Amino acid sequence: MKKSIYEAPSIELVQISTIGKHSILNMGTSSVFEEVDDVEKLLNEYGSPLFLLSEKILRNKYNEFKDAFTEEGIETIIGYSYKTNYLPALCSILKEEGAWAEVVADMEYKLARSLNVPGSKIIFNGCYKTEAELNKAVSEDALINIDSFNELELLDRVAENLGKKARTGIRVNFMMGNMPWTKFGFNYESGEAKEAIEKISKKKNINFEAIHNHSGTFNVNPKMYSKSTRIIIELAEYAKKLGLNTKIIDVGGGFPSSNKLKPQYDIPGGSKYNETTLQQFSSAIMRHLKKAKHLFNNGKPILILEPGRAIVDEAMQLISKVVSKKKDANGNQSVVMDAGVNILPTAFWYDFEPKLANKLNGLNGNLNRKNKKNGNDHNRSVKMYGPLCMQIDSINESVNLPSVELGDVIVFSNVGAYNLTQSMQFIQTRPAVILLGPTGVELIKRKETWRDIFNLDTLPKRLGKSNGAY
Ligand SMILES: Cc1ncc(COP(=O)(O)O)c(C=O)c1O
Repeated sequence: MKKSIYEAPSIELVQISTIGKHSILNMGTSSVFEEVDDVEKLLNEYGSPLFLLSEKILRNKYNEFKDAFTEEGIETIIGYSYKTNYLPALCSILKEEGAWAEVVADMEYKLARSLNVPGSKIIFNGCYKTEAELNKAVSEDALINIDSFNELELLDRVAENLGKKARTGIRVNFMMGNMPWTKFGFNYESGEAKEAIEKISKKKNINFEAIHNHSGTFNVNPKMYSKSTRIIIELAEYAKKLGLNTKIIDVGGGFPSSNKLKPQYDIPGGSKYNETTLQQFSSAIMRHLKKAKHLFNNGKPILILEPGRAIVDEAMQLISKVVSKKKDANGNQSVVMDAGVNILPTAFWYDFEPKLANKLNGLNGNLNRKNKKNGNDHNRSVKMYGPLCMQIDSINESVNLPSVELGDVIVFSNVGAYNLTQSMQFIQTRPAVILLGPTGVELIKRKETWRDIFNLDTLPKRLGKSNGAY
């Protein structure tokens, strides 16, 4: 057996280099970079890392989604799930497209109202709503999907005090294999869902409108929606017997994006996303709903969908720089980036395939850069870490890249969902976000500063020089 020569692990300190002059990026039709012609200028102006949101892709994804779930005789409403990404500019664009707001907390409710979403176009979900929040939601005609018997009693009282009927839905959950999601709503199998309907039928201050289910996120199996639709139909039938006219069937969100799950979270063999994917999910719902129209809104069902990920993931990309390179004990190459799981928490679940982006003059990052050492084009497996002082700050154990240099720009695609809203403020400030809109580049979130992080703190007088300021 041929012995390989031992090479000691090395760490190279970095001077971040500027990016090549012609950093025009082109990474396929779904790339936000078709809209960017000078990445160097962007990074110089807004700093690295940097999030980019494409207005064009966002609007297209919304309409693609809505079209897939549009069917004659059924009114389809998209309640965009704010928690997925609540950049005000993003929520406003979706509002312009006609989306309602699906919110699960007071801060999201307030954001929607501040963007002039009328209360009547807010779906208020979640397992914890305070009396004050319910008070506001009832008075502004929001649709409130209740989560428990306690909430039903509270809502009834709030509505009575306001002298107004509360627009109400019930959230239900059911067993789907070993994925129960039973934390939320009334369980179907135990009979609690029917019991909730029965209780509602006796309440004077509740206007029963909707039956809602949301089970999981990045569901790769359309069967889940078939089952959900069938259960909602059965419950609507039961409600009808009790004299309640269900208007709305709300099947929640959970639809996948084109991202790739890590094998341990995916189905065996890996799920495939293609142009028929949304249609498959739509058919799973429509197949049953079309036969049960009479049970909803006097034959004119209103179908609410609450997508998050499926609409916003593809609309955003993240650009980040290589800040150091090293080799581990086995000689494997790794790189440290200025973006890590602090701003890319979905790296725990997604198998991101980051691409080298700079100095490519419009060519695809992976394929066209010469390996400087041996003159070959071949890629190699590289471990990719973020900047946090934690070993778990690992974006990907094995990325296929040509040899990278310090200061190289790496692009992460499909990062619109659950990264900004679940980002972590731990030792690093969070990056700026720019919108690539019809009039060019607009800053929609400035980079966080160290001051932003400590702005909420107060230093007791006895510990500081001045009165609480430091
Ligand atoms: C009630 C509800 N609706 C919609 C969503 C959006 O889910 P997704 O981004 O998977 O579409 C969520 C997210 O967990 C949710 O809890």
